[in-house]
Amino acid sequence: MKKILAICGSIRADSANLKLLKLLAQWAGSRYDFTIYEGLAELHHFNPDLDVEPAPEAVTALRQQITEADGVIICTPEYVFSLPGSLKNALEWMVSTVIFDGKPTGLITASASGEKGHEQLLLVMRTLSAAYTEQTQLLIKSVKAKFATDGQIKDAATEAALRRLWSAFTKMMDENGN
Ligand SMILES: Cc1cc2nc3c(=O)[nH]c(=O)nc-3n(C[C@H](O)[C@H](O)[C@H](O)COP(=O)(O)O)c2cc1C
Repeated sequence: MKKILAICGSIRADSANLKLLKLLAQWAGSRYDFTIYEGLAELHHFNPDLDVEPAPEAVTALRQQITEADGVIICTPEYVFSLPGSLKNALEWMVSTVIFDGKPTGLITASASGEKGHEQLLLVMRTLSAAYTEQTQLLIKSVKAKFATDGQIKDAATEAALRRLWSAFTKMMDENGN
């Protein structure tokens, strides 16, 4: 079974981005092994001095999870017109590796506005040589108005866009390797 690792850029307990990822986990059902990464808040601040062998344990664990995943989905809010620091920090730890090289990736920014943050997410992931297409990236604006408190989508156009992304992402992953 193909493995998907989902990384939520918000570490807030009631995060809309986390709810969105939980919805994707439902769509994955028993077809994909879908794991939401839970270590973002505990990752050491990136420091090139520590980016040597062996890297900090939590960093090694995240690198391992990404390596083992057939595809990675990142879903994040925009903070101050940029990526949340905790997500950027995690991605900085990946710069010295090739683990995102060609990795099928779904990139979602779900935020109040999110345009700048989304641009930066795409730029960072392109820099990491992740594989994504126009169809596997999505900006969802006014996210709080579009999701009910139980995490279901209230907005039909958003649901359709998310389903298109899910379909393109899983296709890309299924067609990539075994
Ligand atoms: C410190 C801070 C800065 C924010 N800056 C932005 C911003 O620049 N653009 C934006 O669209 N939303 C911004 N927001 C609002 C978030 O998009 C919104 O709170 C979103 O729901 C957070 O995602 P979450 O529910 O997954 O935690 C900011 C929120 C916080 C707490």
